[in-house]
Amino acid sequence: MCGIVGYIGHRQAAGVLLEGLSKLEYRGYDSAGICVHTPQALAVSRSKGRLQTLREKCDSGADLPGTLGIGHTRWATHGAPSDCNAHPHRTRDGKIALVHNGIIENYLELKEELLSRGHRFTSETDTEVAACLLGENYAKTGDMLCAIVATTARLTGSYALGILCLDQPDRMYAVRKDSPLILGWGDNECLIASDAPAILGYTRRVIYPADGDIAILTDQSIQIFNALGNPVLRPTEEVQWSVADAELGDYPHFMLKEIMEQPRVLTDTAAAPLTGNSDCANSLLLDPEQIRNLRRIYIAACGSAYHVGFLGKYILEKYCRIPTESIQASEFRYAAPILDQNTLVILISQSGETADTLAALREAKAQGAHTLAIVNVMGSAIAKAADEVIYTCAGPEIAVATTKAYSAQLAVMYRLALRFARLLETQSQEDIRQAEDALLDLPRQIGQVLLPEGIGQMRTLADRFHACEDIFFIGRNVDAVTCLEGSLKLKELSYIHAEAYPAGELKHGPISLIEEGVPVIALATVRELFHKTMANVKEVKARGATVICLTTEEFAEEARRTADVVVEVPKVHPLLQPSVNIVPLQLFSYFTALNRGCDVDKPRNLAKSVTVE
Ligand code: AGP
Ligand code: GLU
Repeated sequence: MCGIVGYIGHRQAAGVLLEGLSKLEYRGYDSAGICVHTPQALAVSRSKGRLQTLREKCDSGADLPGTLGIGHTRWATHGAPSDCNAHPHRTRDGKIALVHNGIIENYLELKEELLSRGHRFTSETDTEVAACLLGENYAKTGDMLCAIVATTARLTGSYALGILCLDQPDRMYAVRKDSPLILGWGDNECLIASDAPAILGYTRRVIYPADGDIAILTDQSIQIFNALGNPVLRPTEEVQWSVADAELGDYPHFMLKEIMEQPRVLTDTAAAPLTGNSDCANSLLLDPEQIRNLRRIYIAACGSAYHVGFLGKYILEKYCRIPTESIQASEFRYAAPILDQNTLVILISQSGETADTLAALREAKAQGAHTLAIVNVMGSAIAKAADEVIYTCAGPEIAVATTKAYSAQLAVMYRLALRFARLLETQSQEDIRQAEDALLDLPRQIGQVLLPEGIGQMRTLADRFHACEDIFFIGRNVDAVTCLEGSLKLKELSYIHAEAYPAGELKHGPISLIEEGVPVIALATVRELFHKTMANVKEVKARGATVICLTTEEFAEEARRTADVVVEVPKVHPLLQPSVNIVPLQLFSYFTALNRGCDVDKPRNLAKSVTVE
């Protein structure tokens, strides 16, 4: 949620900040602001609404000359979106300006304390309290590092901070705790940002600060200190993503670009090492003995990543015979999971910053379980905190609704299951080899779904059904899970009320909602369950539903006898079929949302990475 950018160097900072913020727009925000260290003052421009409003307000940055600055897109948590709640927040003496991503949980207590000492506030934010406390500490010591150490020692909650001090025109400060922040080194310039796309145009050399780290950045150097103010060394790493990866190119929307990238992403993910980037001394991925000792697996994740986890449950139980539970990360801690050193907890997250997933990870570690993260963003909090990491090779995902990262996560899940199955000998070596070969061929099969004909069919369906008010998705076994993902995609993009049910469950209640003309998308690709699913299709047809049946060539003819429309997808190895099935549903959601005039890349109320619990 929200974005931070900071710049120090030889360019005009305001332009860099506005450009950087535009690259972070996808994260979700409701107001924006920048502050530049001008010779006279820490000059601030901020406004409610889109970045374009801010651009107009500050004449695209021309009103704020200077080569040192910080910028922010806010996703309001404390106080409505408004000009005066927008960041940056300055101290009343104008000496310090600060941008913040996250939540200061004890802000009320601190605010009362500061009020009693005569301080006054101009916003309702928790952030201004942190700025005020920092200003007070700086006034006492005249030393910014000491003031930051003293201030952060009083803060509870999550915060990534970018800080300027009027007395110090040659440096910028940054702090990271439980909120994303990266530091970039360029040539005679340094940057801070919530995420790599904001800085890729300047550098790919980055430092991922650890939790609690404080950084001092000049145009030539980055020094890092721990929360106590002692110097620490952090490695410089190279971001693998390129500028073009984070740009639209010839596509009208990032979502379409990312859907079309899926064959490439699957090729890369299938080829990448599965050993992960791990500093872990007893790596499960490297130690067969540990896999053999596994008693249970939990998979915790949110939203679409949770759906990958749910598919993971079916896959790991079927192919590896390891009891597996998939659980929404927000529920994990409260569900009293049974954890010990023979439990593996898998966390799945595109952003690597999702607060609920991070909290589940911490709980799992605290209870002694082994943790493995499947993450797309290098250096993210979940990647850093887990015992082991496997990175998905999706590249930057900009559209808020996930498509290619979901596919990459699923591909990692297949590979993990095949690795475990080989070691545990729960499948024959020949069966495993066949599945591995099929995985290598999967990008080609998904390419088939993405041919103009396939895309055209989903566009036509979207033209026909975009005005409906409710829609149902039904399927059995892994198809039921793909239904959950298809329905989430449609909801978040088009705002149509969509429900997903296992096909056999429908008659236990929800069938009462089926009436004349209600569209039902039925997935029927699990071979041994085809006829059972078709029986459920008949039940809804009998009550007036219009049925779109998604199935493989093998059953297409038979499906046509009952369904109103049949969408035919390539038949692949049963392990991999969910990867093929989701693609037409992604396209359907995309075109439906377009027809309804929705902002497909930035759906209402949603943020790309949800850093609050
Ligand atoms: C997907 O389209 C969603 N916007 C959302 O459900 C997302 O998958 C979820 O918030 C998890 O995010 P993460 O993968 O970054 O942890
Ligand atoms: N909690 C702060 C506010 O409401 C920061 C929100 C954000 O992360 O954008 O202003």
